[in-house]
Amino acid sequence: MEIVRTIEALQEAKQRQQGSIGFVPTMGALHEGHLSLIRQARAENEVVIVSIFVNPTQFLEGEDLDAYPRREAADAKICDVAGVDVLFMPTIDQMYESDELCIGAPAKRGYTLEGAKRPGHFDGMLQIVMKLLNLTGATRAYFGKKDAQQLALIQQMVRTYFLPVEIVPCPIVRDADGLALSSRNTYLDADERQRALCLSRSLKAATDLIASGTRDVTTIRTRMLEVLALADRVEYVAIVDRAFLPIETVEIGGTILLVAAWIGRPRLIDNVWL
Ligand code: PAJ
Repeated sequence: MEIVRTIEALQEAKQRQQGSIGFVPTMGALHEGHLSLIRQARAENEVVIVSIFVNPTQFLEGEDLDAYPRREAADAKICDVAGVDVLFMPTIDQMYESDELCIGAPAKRGYTLEGAKRPGHFDGMLQIVMKLLNLTGATRAYFGKKDAQQLALIQQMVRTYFLPVEIVPCPIVRDADGLALSSRNTYLDADERQRALCLSRSLKAATDLIASGTRDVTTIRTRMLEVLALADRVEYVAIVDRAFLPIETVEIGGTILLVAAWIGRPRLIDNVWL
């Protein structure tokens, strides 16, 4: 595996490779969730590029940019073992200039849920993903359904700008007890780790209700909020269609249930696609 830190070195490394490029962008502190994306990219492409870049423009003032876990050496080892060909770990200077041209998240889908709670987050996320897709020349890029709205906005950006890349959505990877894996889970102490289960349990309670025939969104939300009583603060419980717009009746095949809640220090998210 080649580790490259500059755009020039990335271009040189790419010239030494041939065939379809599978790309997995990450912010590091790699876990099984990231690894599942990397494995899928490995299985479907001749070349695999992973990026690790804690992107400052997608963190809001007062968020955990400085505290965000950084584990370069361990991450590089994980990538090497997983058969990654090129690991791109650029500095901020390599990726940004001052007074940049910026991509904006769409007014509706980009400013509901995560976008409403973290205004500007998706602008920064789209900005860096656009740069990374262009730099890597990815044939396919792999994103987790864990960040459902992020995935949908990236798909929209690819449509809007006619980017020559296939976006591959990947299933959410969970711990055995149901907690969705996240780099931010490292912030949880033992008690919080236990309470954090209320996110996935609220989704399970909702899908149980739906399985037994309930379709009314208010009933489902009320049940979810009961389970989420263990959270320190619930930021949203949403039942939306594939465009992230609220619905009144659940439709199998077209509904996403999402939850965001604070457990101790971190704010965690989880969702289920029906
Ligand atoms: P990061 O949070 O590191 O996540 C990188 C990728 O891993 C994303 O596509 C995310 O959805 C996926 N992922 C994280 N946890 C997962 C899980 N439990 N199961 C499946 N996939 C999971 O998302 C970002 O970084 C950044 O916003 C980025 C796209 C890299 C742009 O900076």
